[in-house]
Amino acid sequence: MKEQVLFYRRLFGRFATGVAVVLTEDDGEIRGITVNSLTSASLDPLLLLFCVSNNSRTGEAILRSGRFTVNILTADQENAARYFAGRKDMNDEFAYGQEEGFVWLAQSNAVFRCQLEVSHPSGDHRIILGRVKNMLGPDECQRLLVYHEGHYANLQSKTITESPIEARPT
Ligand SMILES: Cc1cc2nc3c(=O)[nH]c(=O)nc-3n(C[C@H](O)[C@H](O)[C@H](O)COP(=O)(O)O)c2cc1C
Repeated sequence: MKEQVLFYRRLFGRFATGVAVVLTEDDGEIRGITVNSLTSASLDPLLLLFCVSNNSRTGEAILRSGRFTVNILTADQENAARYFAGRKDMNDEFAYGQEEGFVWLAQSNAVFRCQLEVSHPSGDHRIILGRVKNMLGPDECQRLLVYHEGHYANLQSKTITESPIEARPT
C-alpha cells in the first residue's frame, strides 16, 4: 500500500467511532458488513449514510435488495463486529430479529431499518444513503463498542434517554 495511504489510515484511526453492522437479506441469505463510516445525514427526512467498498459482497446485496438495517453495537457484540469484518471462522450464532423483509441483530444499542434512497460512487467506495423507515433500541444505552487506532474498546455512556425509543413508523 502507498505510503500516503498508510499515513492517511493511521491519522484517520485517531478519529474514534462507534461500530455498526449493516445487514441485508439477499436471496434468502443474510449478508452483513461491519462499518464505522456511519453518520446521520438528515433529520427531515430521516437519512443516514455509510461508505462501502466496491469489493464488498454486502454492498452488492444492498444494491440488489434495496433495504438494510444498521445495527449499532454494544460492547457485548464485539464478536459480531469481528465476524462481519471478515472473521468468518468465528462463531456465527447470533440472535436475529426478522420482520417485513428486514433482518437485524437482537440486543443492539440501536437498530435503524432503512430503504436504499440513493447510492453514489466515491472512488474505491460507494456512499450508501438510507431512508430510515423505523427504528428500535433499549431505553438506556448499553456499554458501547468503539474503534480507535485499529483496536476495539468499550465505553460506558452516562447518557440516560428521557423517553423510550420504540419501533415507530416515520
Ligand atoms: C471497525 C471496522 C470498521 C469498518 N468499516 C468499514 C466501512 O465503513 N466500509 C467498508 O467498506 N468496510 C469497512 N470495514 C471492513 C469490512 O467490514 C470488511 O472488509 C468485510 O469483510 C466486508 O465484508 P463483505 O465483503 O462480505 O461485505 C470495517 C472493518 C472494521 C473492523
